[in-house]
Amino acid sequence: MFIFRRAAELQAFLQRRRTHGRSLGFVPTMGALHSGHLSLIEQSQKENELTVASIFVNPTQFNEAEDLNTYPRTPGRDCELLAQVGCGLVFLPTVEEVYPPDLEQDLSFDFDGLDERLEGAHRPGHFNGVAQVVTRLLELVQPDRLYLGQKDAQQVAILRKTVEQLGGGIEIVAVPTVRDSDGLALSSRNARLSEQARKDAPNIYQALLRTSAGLLDGGQVDTLLASAIADINAFTTLNVEYLELVDAKQMKPIEEFHDAQQAILVAAVWAEDVRLIDNLPVG
Ligand code: PAJ
Repeated sequence: MFIFRRAAELQAFLQRRRTHGRSLGFVPTMGALHSGHLSLIEQSQKENELTVASIFVNPTQFNEAEDLNTYPRTPGRDCELLAQVGCGLVFLPTVEEVYPPDLEQDLSFDFDGLDERLEGAHRPGHFNGVAQVVTRLLELVQPDRLYLGQKDAQQVAILRKTVEQLGGGIEIVAVPTVRDSDGLALSSRNARLSEQARKDAPNIYQALLRTSAGLLDGGQVDTLLASAIADINAFTTLNVEYLELVDAKQMKPIEEFHDAQQAILVAAVWAEDVRLIDNLPVG
Protein backbone atom coordinates (compact mmCIF):
# COMPACT_ATOMS: atom_id res chain seq x y z
CA MET A 1 0.00 0.00 0.00
CA PHE A 2 1.21 3.48 -0.84
CA ILE A 3 0.34 6.22 1.64
CA PHE A 4 1.11 9.71 0.35
CA ARG A 5 1.30 12.61 2.74
CA ARG A 6 2.63 15.05 0.13
CA ALA A 7 0.66 15.95 -2.97
CA ALA A 8 3.87 16.21 -5.04
CA GLU A 9 4.71 12.57 -4.25
CA LEU A 10 1.23 11.42 -5.18
CA GLN A 11 1.35 13.42 -8.40
CA ALA A 12 4.77 12.03 -9.37
CA PHE A 13 3.55 8.49 -8.70
CA LEU A 14 0.35 8.97 -10.70
CA GLN A 15 2.20 10.53 -13.59
CA ARG A 16 4.18 7.31 -14.01
CA ARG A 17 1.09 5.08 -13.69
CA ARG A 18 -1.40 7.00 -15.79
CA THR A 19 -0.02 5.99 -19.14
CA HIS A 20 -2.06 4.51 -21.99
CA GLY A 21 -5.30 6.24 -21.00
CA ARG A 22 -5.62 4.46 -17.66
CA SER A 23 -8.44 6.18 -15.83
CA LEU A 24 -8.29 7.41 -12.26
CA GLY A 25 -11.19 7.33 -9.81
CA PHE A 26 -11.07 9.45 -6.66
CA VAL A 27 -12.92 8.87 -3.39
CA PRO A 28 -12.57 11.73 -0.89
CA THR A 29 -13.38 10.87 2.74
CA MET A 30 -12.84 12.20 6.23
CA GLY A 31 -11.84 8.75 7.50
CA ALA A 32 -13.51 6.68 10.24
CA LEU A 33 -14.36 4.41 7.35
CA HIS A 34 -17.29 1.99 7.21
CA SER A 35 -18.88 -0.18 4.52
CA GLY A 36 -20.60 2.88 3.01
CA HIS A 37 -17.24 4.45 2.21
CA LEU A 38 -15.88 1.13 1.00
CA SER A 39 -18.73 0.76 -1.49
CA LEU A 40 -17.55 3.98 -3.16
CA ILE A 41 -14.04 2.54 -3.38
CA GLU A 42 -15.35 -0.71 -4.87
CA GLN A 43 -17.45 1.13 -7.42
CA SER A 44 -14.43 3.19 -8.44
CA GLN A 45 -12.28 0.08 -8.72
CA LYS A 46 -14.83 -1.47 -11.08
CA GLU A 47 -14.84 1.57 -13.34
CA ASN A 48 -11.20 2.68 -13.27
CA GLU A 49 -7.72 1.17 -13.54
CA LEU A 50 -6.54 3.30 -10.60
CA THR A 51 -8.35 4.45 -7.48
CA VAL A 52 -7.12 6.97 -4.93
CA ALA A 53 -8.87 7.39 -1.58
CA SER A 54 -8.16 10.47 0.51
CA ILE A 55 -8.54 10.78 4.25
CA PHE A 56 -8.65 14.38 5.38
CA VAL A 57 -10.74 15.88 8.18
CA ASN A 58 -11.41 19.22 6.55
CA PRO A 59 -11.47 22.02 9.14
CA THR A 60 -13.24 24.51 6.85
CA GLN A 61 -16.50 22.53 6.68
CA PHE A 62 -17.11 22.30 10.43
CA ASN A 63 -19.33 24.89 12.07
CA GLU A 64 -18.12 24.18 15.57
CA ALA A 65 -14.57 23.71 16.86
CA GLU A 66 -15.93 21.07 19.26
CA ASP A 67 -17.30 19.00 16.39
CA LEU A 68 -13.98 19.23 14.53
CA ASN A 69 -11.96 18.29 17.60
CA THR A 70 -14.10 15.30 18.48
CA TYR A 71 -14.39 13.98 14.89
CA PRO A 72 -13.16 10.34 15.01
CA ARG A 73 -9.65 9.91 13.60
CA THR A 74 -8.65 6.29 12.97
CA PRO A 75 -6.11 6.38 10.10
CA GLY A 76 -4.47 3.06 11.03
CA ARG A 77 -7.74 1.13 10.93
CA ASP A 78 -8.86 3.05 7.83
CA CYS A 79 -5.75 1.99 5.94
CA GLU A 80 -6.32 -1.63 7.01
CA LEU A 81 -9.88 -1.51 5.65
CA LEU A 82 -8.68 0.06 2.41
CA ALA A 83 -6.04 -2.65 2.05
CA GLN A 84 -8.73 -5.30 2.61
CA VAL A 85 -10.70 -4.04 -0.40
CA GLY A 86 -7.52 -3.77 -2.44
CA CYS A 87 -7.22 0.02 -2.46
CA GLY A 88 -3.50 0.60 -2.38
CA LEU A 89 -3.33 4.36 -3.02
CA VAL A 90 -4.15 6.57 -0.06
CA PHE A 91 -3.71 10.33 0.13
CA LEU A 92 -3.42 11.34 3.78
CA PRO A 93 -2.35 14.97 3.71
CA THR A 94 -1.78 17.43 6.54
CA VAL A 95 -3.78 20.65 6.83
CA GLU A 96 -0.71 22.60 5.62
CA GLU A 97 -0.48 20.42 2.53
CA VAL A 98 -4.10 21.05 1.55
CA TYR A 99 -4.11 24.69 2.63
CA PRO A 100 -0.55 26.06 2.37
CA PRO A 101 -0.31 29.64 3.68
CA ASP A 102 0.42 31.01 0.19
CA LEU A 103 -2.50 29.19 -1.46
CA GLU A 104 -4.72 31.41 -3.56
CA GLN A 105 -8.12 29.83 -3.96
CA ASP A 106 -11.16 31.38 -5.55
CA LEU A 107 -13.86 30.77 -2.97
CA SER A 108 -16.67 32.64 -4.68
CA PHE A 109 -18.76 29.55 -5.38
CA ASP A 110 -22.13 30.08 -7.01
CA PHE A 111 -24.47 27.44 -5.65
CA ASP A 112 -27.54 29.21 -6.98
CA GLY A 113 -29.16 29.15 -3.53
CA LEU A 114 -28.68 25.40 -3.12
CA ASP A 115 -26.55 25.94 -0.02
CA GLU A 116 -29.26 27.94 1.75
CA ARG A 117 -31.73 25.09 2.07
CA LEU A 118 -31.93 21.94 4.23
CA GLU A 119 -28.42 21.08 5.48
CA GLY A 120 -27.10 24.47 4.40
CA ALA A 121 -29.73 26.31 6.45
CA HIS A 122 -28.73 24.39 9.55
CA ARG A 123 -24.97 24.48 8.99
CA PRO A 124 -23.97 27.93 7.67
CA GLY A 125 -20.75 27.90 5.63
CA HIS A 126 -20.61 24.11 5.63
CA PHE A 127 -21.04 23.64 1.88
CA ASN A 128 -18.57 26.40 1.11
CA GLY A 129 -16.01 24.40 3.09
CA VAL A 130 -16.96 21.19 1.28
CA ALA A 131 -16.66 22.84 -2.15
CA GLN A 132 -13.37 24.44 -1.12
CA VAL A 133 -11.73 21.19 -0.05
CA VAL A 134 -13.07 19.13 -2.93
CA THR A 135 -11.90 21.76 -5.44
CA ARG A 136 -8.48 21.68 -3.87
CA LEU A 137 -8.30 17.88 -3.72
CA LEU A 138 -9.39 17.62 -7.36
CA GLU A 139 -6.63 20.06 -8.28
CA LEU A 140 -4.08 17.88 -6.46
CA VAL A 141 -5.33 14.45 -7.57
CA GLN A 142 -6.64 15.30 -11.07
CA PRO A 143 -8.99 12.31 -11.39
CA ASP A 144 -11.26 11.34 -14.28
CA ARG A 145 -14.13 10.40 -11.95
CA LEU A 146 -15.22 11.57 -8.52
CA TYR A 147 -17.19 9.14 -6.32
CA LEU A 148 -19.73 10.51 -3.85
CA GLY A 149 -22.35 8.90 -1.62
CA GLN A 150 -26.01 9.48 -2.39
CA LYS A 151 -26.44 9.46 1.41
CA ASP A 152 -25.36 13.11 1.28
CA ALA A 153 -27.70 14.03 -1.56
CA GLN A 154 -27.33 17.78 -1.15
CA GLN A 155 -23.54 17.46 -1.11
CA VAL A 156 -23.80 15.60 -4.44
CA ALA A 157 -26.01 18.34 -5.93
CA ILE A 158 -23.67 21.09 -4.73
CA LEU A 159 -20.53 19.35 -5.93
CA ARG A 160 -22.14 18.72 -9.33
CA LYS A 161 -22.50 22.47 -9.66
CA THR A 162 -18.99 23.14 -8.36
CA VAL A 163 -17.36 20.63 -10.68
CA GLU A 164 -19.39 21.91 -13.64
CA GLN A 165 -18.12 25.43 -12.93
CA LEU A 166 -14.53 24.20 -12.71
CA GLY A 167 -14.75 22.77 -16.22
CA GLY A 168 -12.32 19.99 -17.07
CA GLY A 169 -14.91 17.28 -17.54
CA ILE A 170 -14.59 15.33 -14.30
CA GLU A 171 -17.45 12.84 -14.13
CA ILE A 172 -19.37 12.59 -10.86
CA VAL A 173 -20.61 9.15 -9.86
CA ALA A 174 -23.23 9.04 -7.09
CA VAL A 175 -23.28 5.72 -5.27
CA PRO A 176 -26.42 4.39 -3.50
CA THR A 177 -26.60 4.52 0.29
CA VAL A 178 -25.35 1.47 2.16
CA ARG A 179 -27.60 0.49 5.08
CA ASP A 180 -27.46 -1.81 8.06
CA SER A 181 -29.67 -4.92 7.83
CA ASP A 182 -32.47 -3.05 9.66
CA GLY A 183 -32.38 -0.17 7.18
CA LEU A 184 -30.42 2.45 9.14
CA ALA A 185 -28.07 4.30 6.79
CA LEU A 186 -24.45 3.66 7.77
CA SER A 187 -22.78 6.66 9.33
CA SER A 188 -19.82 7.12 11.67
CA ARG A 189 -22.30 8.89 13.97
CA ASN A 190 -24.29 5.68 14.54
CA ALA A 191 -21.65 4.56 17.02
CA ARG A 192 -22.72 7.42 19.30
CA LEU A 193 -26.38 6.30 19.50
CA SER A 194 -27.72 5.02 22.83
CA GLU A 195 -29.16 1.52 22.86
CA GLN A 196 -32.73 2.81 22.65
CA ALA A 197 -31.93 5.41 19.96
CA ARG A 198 -30.22 2.71 17.89
CA LYS A 199 -33.39 0.60 18.14
CA ASP A 200 -35.61 3.51 17.11
CA ALA A 201 -33.41 4.99 14.35
CA PRO A 202 -34.33 2.48 11.56
CA ASN A 203 -37.86 3.93 11.72
CA ILE A 204 -36.55 6.96 9.84
CA TYR A 205 -35.96 4.84 6.74
CA GLN A 206 -39.22 2.95 7.28
CA ALA A 207 -41.11 6.26 7.28
CA LEU A 208 -39.32 7.33 4.08
CA LEU A 209 -40.26 4.02 2.42
CA ARG A 210 -43.93 4.40 3.42
CA THR A 211 -43.99 7.99 2.18
CA SER A 212 -42.43 7.03 -1.13
CA ALA A 213 -44.99 4.25 -1.60
CA GLY A 214 -47.80 6.69 -0.73
CA LEU A 215 -46.53 9.22 -3.27
CA LEU A 216 -46.31 6.61 -6.01
CA ASP A 217 -49.85 5.60 -5.09
CA GLY A 218 -51.02 9.13 -5.83
CA GLY A 219 -51.22 10.40 -2.21
CA GLN A 220 -51.09 14.09 -1.24
CA VAL A 221 -47.56 15.38 -0.58
CA ASP A 222 -48.36 17.49 2.51
CA THR A 223 -50.54 14.81 4.15
CA LEU A 224 -47.94 12.12 3.61
CA LEU A 225 -45.08 14.29 4.90
CA ALA A 226 -47.05 15.27 8.00
CA SER A 227 -47.86 11.68 8.82
CA ALA A 228 -44.22 10.58 8.27
CA ILE A 229 -43.06 13.29 10.67
CA ALA A 230 -45.66 12.25 13.25
CA ASP A 231 -44.70 8.57 12.87
CA ILE A 232 -41.03 9.33 13.51
CA ASN A 233 -41.70 11.73 16.37
CA ALA A 234 -43.83 9.06 18.07
CA PHE A 235 -40.56 7.36 19.06
CA THR A 236 -39.36 8.99 22.27
CA THR A 237 -35.71 9.20 21.18
CA LEU A 238 -36.47 10.70 17.74
CA ASN A 239 -37.22 14.28 16.78
CA VAL A 240 -37.53 15.41 13.15
CA GLU A 241 -35.65 18.57 12.19
CA TYR A 242 -36.90 18.46 8.61
CA LEU A 243 -38.52 15.93 6.32
CA GLU A 244 -39.28 17.22 2.84
CA LEU A 245 -39.91 16.19 -0.73
CA VAL A 246 -37.52 18.08 -3.01
CA ASP A 247 -36.22 17.94 -6.55
CA ALA A 248 -32.83 16.25 -6.73
CA LYS A 249 -31.10 19.06 -8.63
CA GLN A 250 -32.20 22.27 -6.92
CA MET A 251 -33.38 20.74 -3.63
CA LYS A 252 -36.49 22.90 -3.82
CA PRO A 253 -39.70 21.64 -2.19
CA ILE A 254 -42.13 19.82 -4.44
CA GLU A 255 -45.76 20.45 -3.58
CA GLU A 256 -47.33 18.22 -6.19
CA PHE A 257 -45.66 15.01 -7.13
CA HIS A 258 -45.52 13.60 -10.67
CA ASP A 259 -43.72 10.38 -11.53
CA ALA A 260 -41.57 12.11 -14.13
CA GLN A 261 -39.87 14.38 -11.59
CA GLN A 262 -36.49 13.50 -10.11
CA ALA A 263 -37.92 13.72 -6.62
CA ILE A 264 -36.19 12.79 -3.40
CA LEU A 265 -37.35 12.57 0.20
CA VAL A 266 -34.78 14.14 2.53
CA ALA A 267 -34.73 14.05 6.30
CA ALA A 268 -32.67 15.20 9.25
CA VAL A 269 -33.66 13.66 12.55
CA TRP A 270 -32.24 14.07 16.03
CA ALA A 271 -31.85 10.73 17.79
CA GLU A 272 -31.37 12.19 21.27
CA ASP A 273 -28.14 14.22 20.84
CA VAL A 274 -27.07 12.62 17.55
CA ARG A 275 -28.16 14.25 14.30
CA LEU A 276 -28.87 11.72 11.55
CA ILE A 277 -29.60 12.42 7.90
CA ASP A 278 -31.15 10.13 5.34
CA ASN A 279 -32.92 10.33 1.99
CA LEU A 280 -34.73 8.24 -0.56
CA PRO A 281 -35.16 8.92 -4.27
CA VAL A 282 -38.85 8.41 -5.15
CA GLY A 283 -39.64 6.16 -8.06
P1 PAJ B 1 -17.40 11.56 4.75
O1 PAJ B 1 -18.51 11.87 5.69
O2 PAJ B 1 -16.20 10.84 5.29
O3 PAJ B 1 -17.99 10.73 3.56
C1 PAJ B 1 -17.19 10.35 2.47
C2 PAJ B 1 -18.09 9.82 1.37
O4 PAJ B 1 -18.78 8.64 1.82
C3 PAJ B 1 -19.20 10.85 1.01
O5 PAJ B 1 -19.32 10.93 -0.41
C4 PAJ B 1 -20.44 10.25 1.65
O6 PAJ B 1 -21.64 10.61 1.00
C5 PAJ B 1 -20.15 8.76 1.51
N1 PAJ B 1 -20.97 7.97 2.47
C6 PAJ B 1 -21.13 8.17 3.80
N2 PAJ B 1 -22.00 7.28 4.32
C7 PAJ B 1 -22.39 6.48 3.30
C8 PAJ B 1 -23.29 5.37 3.17
N3 PAJ B 1 -23.95 4.89 4.22
N4 PAJ B 1 -23.47 4.82 1.95
C9 PAJ B 1 -22.80 5.30 0.86
N5 PAJ B 1 -21.94 6.34 0.91
C10 PAJ B 1 -21.74 6.93 2.11
O7 PAJ B 1 -18.70 13.58 2.98
C11 PAJ B 1 -17.58 13.82 3.41
O8 PAJ B 1 -16.84 12.90 4.09
C12 PAJ B 1 -16.89 15.15 3.19
O9 PAJ B 1 -17.84 16.18 3.11
C13 PAJ B 1 -15.97 15.18 1.93
C14 PAJ B 1 -16.76 14.98 0.63
C15 PAJ B 1 -14.88 14.10 2.04
C16 PAJ B 1 -15.25 16.56 1.86
O10 PAJ B 1 -14.52 16.81 3.00
